[in-house]
Amino acid sequence: MRTRITDLLGIRRPIIQGGMHFVGLAELASAVSNAGGLGILTALTQRSPELLAKEIARCRNMTDRPFGVNLTFLPTFAAPPYAEYIHAIIEGGVKVVETAGRSPAAHLPALKAAGVKVIHKCTSVRHALSAEKIGCDAVSIDGFECGGHPGEDDVPNFVLLPSAAAALDIPFLASGGMADGCSLVAALALGADGIAMGTRFLATQEAPVHENVKLAILGATTLDTRLVMRSLRNTERVLTNPSVERLLEIERERGDALTIADIHEQVAGVYPKVMIDGDMDAGAWSCGMVAGLINDIPTVSALLDRIMAQASHLINDDLRRIATGGDDGETYRGIMS
Ligand SMILES: Cc1cc2nc3c(=O)[nH]c(=O)nc-3n(C[C@H](O)[C@H](O)[C@H](O)COP(=O)(O)O)c2cc1C
Repeated sequence: MRTRITDLLGIRRPIIQGGMHFVGLAELASAVSNAGGLGILTALTQRSPELLAKEIARCRNMTDRPFGVNLTFLPTFAAPPYAEYIHAIIEGGVKVVETAGRSPAAHLPALKAAGVKVIHKCTSVRHALSAEKIGCDAVSIDGFECGGHPGEDDVPNFVLLPSAAAALDIPFLASGGMADGCSLVAALALGADGIAMGTRFLATQEAPVHENVKLAILGATTLDTRLVMRSLRNTERVLTNPSVERLLEIERERGDALTIADIHEQVAGVYPKVMIDGDMDAGAWSCGMVAGLINDIPTVSALLDRIMAQASHLINDDLRRIATGGDDGETYRGIMS
């Protein structure tokens, strides 16, 4: 399959693994790249630029295909040394960066001068247009269903993606709720040039996380995520657990007076406890609604093979049959089974 995204990134399949804190390590990123997509290391999971440089080198040893690095600009007063992380990315020969959170404008000149392609993750068309205007090469559009930070507009992908297609000139990825060949075909039909997935990649053999995390995703229904930190305008979609329900209770009690200090216990330092120790009730961790559609833990390569085979079958066979009037109404039951 060839799209503007496969051309831009030099990959075989229009499927990207979004940056994931404590998940986007060399094991997963290299597996996605080896399977023909684009794997992404998560810079801030590495506590220093030096450690990121080592992780980039480790990933390079595990794949000879392109891979990227996610750089998340956090709403924090004690900002990480972003310029030094960027130096490690450039020195490590990485040619794709996924930025997220705040605008990457201040860092674009350094990245562009080094020939790095920048994909900015956005949750609205207005932010996507700003990213296009400042010179980003592509955007990844995260709909309301996504795991992580869906923004504050609450527009789901069925409306967000065609709005983005109508407004943008640069290529874009559909992100949030993507899981299989049906998602890929739907995303392409809505104008996207490929898909980015987070939660689906968590439940794979190569995801370097505790087995409990994968089992929690398999056990989740589409109703098991919650939106937290809304009143702080830092909304995050997470998988529910007793700690998250307590967090929501505190939010209700504190109302508009809520500060991050009130929920420190439920949101700070949670990722290593969940992803490494498998303590599933440690606090709030990102998870998409799509968890409710995930029923297995395949290898990354089996997952990508299956997505591409399903997409090809849909486009060349099932949808063609429906479009030409040769269908007896059973096709969609077949597609979903
Ligand atoms: C466990 C987890 C951690 C994540 N961490 C980050 C992160 O550190 N930075 C970032 O930009 N996005 C992060 N995301 C968001 C993903 O990159 C991606 O945009 C999102 O998962 C897409 O929605 P989906 O989960 O429905 O596929 C995270 C998502 C998950 C599930």
